[in-house]
Amino acid sequence: MKFFIDTANLDQIREANDLGILDGVTTNPSLMAKEGIKGTENQHAHYIKICEIVRGDVSAEVISTDYAGMMKEATELTALHPNIVVKLPCTEDGIKGVRTLADKGVKTNCTLIFSLGQAHLAAKAGATYVSPFIGRLDDISSDGVGLVKKIVEVFNYYGFETEVLAASIRSTQHIIQCMEAGADVATCPLAAIKGLLKHPLTDAGLAIFLADYRKVNNES
Ligand code: G3P
Repeated sequence: MKFFIDTANLDQIREANDLGILDGVTTNPSLMAKEGIKGTENQHAHYIKICEIVRGDVSAEVISTDYAGMMKEATELTALHPNIVVKLPCTEDGIKGVRTLADKGVKTNCTLIFSLGQAHLAAKAGATYVSPFIGRLDDISSDGVGLVKKIVEVFNYYGFETEVLAASIRSTQHIIQCMEAGADVATCPLAAIKGLLKHPLTDAGLAIFLADYRKVNNES
């Protein structure tokens, strides 16, 4: 499974990248706002900074809700760096935009996906990625990981090349469940990724190894 980090925070992106396991980055307008990035020029400069840290796809989301506006933004975003993936919402205009961009060979991430039908249409339109939101479905007593599993099965059945990018991941357990569900990509908060490394037997085993080494080498 590929690991993307779901943040616009440069320090966290650097830290995840330095781990050597990072395949890409996803951002959205809320994550950009959280970093206090205001205005188109600053946002564009920020996307370039992210692309300079990570060797992999970087999703930059359009703000327009109409097709023409989305296409204008897509042109500006893709001019910033070759690794930019245009993120569009799963709406009528968004799906049209995905089709137009796919026909031009531009990578897209169709976001705000909450159903199998939405994912299927996005894949038919030629999306590079579809982003089902796990946490937000769980928030309303729905089954986020279950949706990821269904999308993976149906995409395999029809031979779609679109990658299933599990988003709105809130925990380390969500990441494990995405692996089990066969997600192509999980976009995660840094803390959830680092949680994968935690195991008490690793800590206890390391402590024993170091104590034994110190005993024989006369180190206190
Ligand atoms: O990738 C989408 C993600 O940022 C949404 O996460 O936690 O706001 O539902 P959340």
